[in-house]
Amino acid sequence: MNQGEILVIDLFAGPGGLGEGISSCKDDNGNFPFQIGVSVEKEASAHKTLTTRAFYRKLKDNPDSLADYHKYLEGKISRSDLFDVYPQAAEEAKLETLQAPRALGDDNELIHARIKQLCEKHKGPKVVIGGPPCQAYSLAGRSRNAGIKDYKAENDTRNFLYKEYLEVISIAQPEVFVMENVRGILSAKVAGELMFPKILADLREPGKVTDKPGVKGYRIYSLVEPATDPSDPIYKDSRAFLIKAENYGVPQARHRVILLGIREDIDRVPNVLKPADEIVTVEQAIGDLPPLRSGFSKRKDDAFEWEVEVESNSKLISRLLAAKFNIEKPADLFLMLKPQKALKRKTSTKSGISSSLPEELKRWYSNNAASAVLNHETRGHMDSDLLRYAFSAGYTELSGGTSPKARDFPEELAPNHDNWKSGSHADRFRTQAADKCATTVTSHISKDGHYFIHYDPSQCRSLTVREAARLQTFPDNYFFEGNRTQQYVQVGNAVPPYLAKQIAKIVLKCL
Ligand SMILES: C[S@@+](CC[C@H](N)C(=O)[O-])C[C@H]1O[C@@H](n2cnc3c(N)ncnc32)[C@H](O)[C@@H]1O
Repeated sequence: MNQGEILVIDLFAGPGGLGEGISSCKDDNGNFPFQIGVSVEKEASAHKTLTTRAFYRKLKDNPDSLADYHKYLEGKISRSDLFDVYPQAAEEAKLETLQAPRALGDDNELIHARIKQLCEKHKGPKVVIGGPPCQAYSLAGRSRNAGIKDYKAENDTRNFLYKEYLEVISIAQPEVFVMENVRGILSAKVAGELMFPKILADLREPGKVTDKPGVKGYRIYSLVEPATDPSDPIYKDSRAFLIKAENYGVPQARHRVILLGIREDIDRVPNVLKPADEIVTVEQAIGDLPPLRSGFSKRKDDAFEWEVEVESNSKLISRLLAAKFNIEKPADLFLMLKPQKALKRKTSTKSGISSSLPEELKRWYSNNAASAVLNHETRGHMDSDLLRYAFSAGYTELSGGTSPKARDFPEELAPNHDNWKSGSHADRFRTQAADKCATTVTSHISKDGHYFIHYDPSQCRSLTVREAARLQTFPDNYFFEGNRTQQYVQVGNAVPPYLAKQIAKIVLKCL
């Protein structure tokens, strides 16, 4: 295939995880056949991230321009100065992300016009990618909705955003589409009816829903389970569409529904994903990033006071852990828990990469990396949480990788919640064990870091955006725009690009 021969239309693009994977996919001749034509995203910070990344892709192959891009990442020049030096690349990047955040549904006139224009000009194959947002389907979203008085799923427009996806399929009629969603979509109900079979039926015949009779139909394939009858892929169990990212080289248990649609006139059957040889662990993924200390959230930050506080915590926690694990000498535990000295809260030191990572993933992270580590800055925590973090990380280490549940915490560390020991809080302070893959990185990480505690008690903190991005397999030079909270949301929402690249290879074969 030629460079850029396949037009990609990226809907609900988030920070661009799917788009990154697909546009990084090379064919056997070393060409990059997928070219993103448009990315649609309504949230401003994610939109800015997408534009920065689109810009990067346009100049990454020229060493001088790449060096200038790195200067921006290293904070040596501003984004607008960088864009001024490369006005054409900047214009193209802005056009790719439609000049501004846009919402499918609200801005359809403009979005559809641009997609039509691109499709008319483009002679090669087309692919639509994206995942209609998941709040209304996700288990967390559903429990939130359950608390809303008079909530009715059938009146929640977010349950029907996939219809916007169908509108675009009807316009572009791509050879292939890839649709991602949370696992909750399999069991979500509207007016007592399961949504998923309806969504599948609608995706098979988009023209019926959009009232465009000439639109071709699609066969919908699983990417992990071969269909019994490939020419008419029907699966006995809808869980056939569930992909467990940890089985494909992603250092994170992330279980998502991914559907591959192939237009009915394309006589191809997709392969399934090939499982990786081994699970990639948290330590392999983040262990070589520069160590950092946390800060204080309710008082003035000060490095010396932090060391004093964490050191004093370590004495108490080593006694508590020694009692739990029947260890005679708490002093040995103190050595494990005591704070590392002279740590910073953020650093621009060059990013390290673990030599034990699988070669391909190592190259993936470090390709065209800047000399600075990006988005690697810690949060502040409450004093009482610092104690719990030290306990949780220490406990996880001593138990061989099991993070403590509420019942494992000593009374003196229990937070002042009524429901601390009940189901919803039982796993409230979760350490991401060094020698396992991480649990799912969700956008909840933007709220607090309690589910994402670093395994190293001597840093006593939650994960940084960069660490979360590593667990999501974003390359190290992927820069997340916006404030830190927005960056966490973007990372938590994304499809792991390294998984997306593997999906892209399957798509490529079909084309
Ligand atoms: C789950 S994320 C998508 C992640 C993305 N596929 C990736 O790989 O990074 C869903 C995104 O849809 C965006 N969104 C929600 N409603 C939208 C709408 N009506 N139009 C455009 N974007 C929307 C959200 O802001 C969010 O960033």
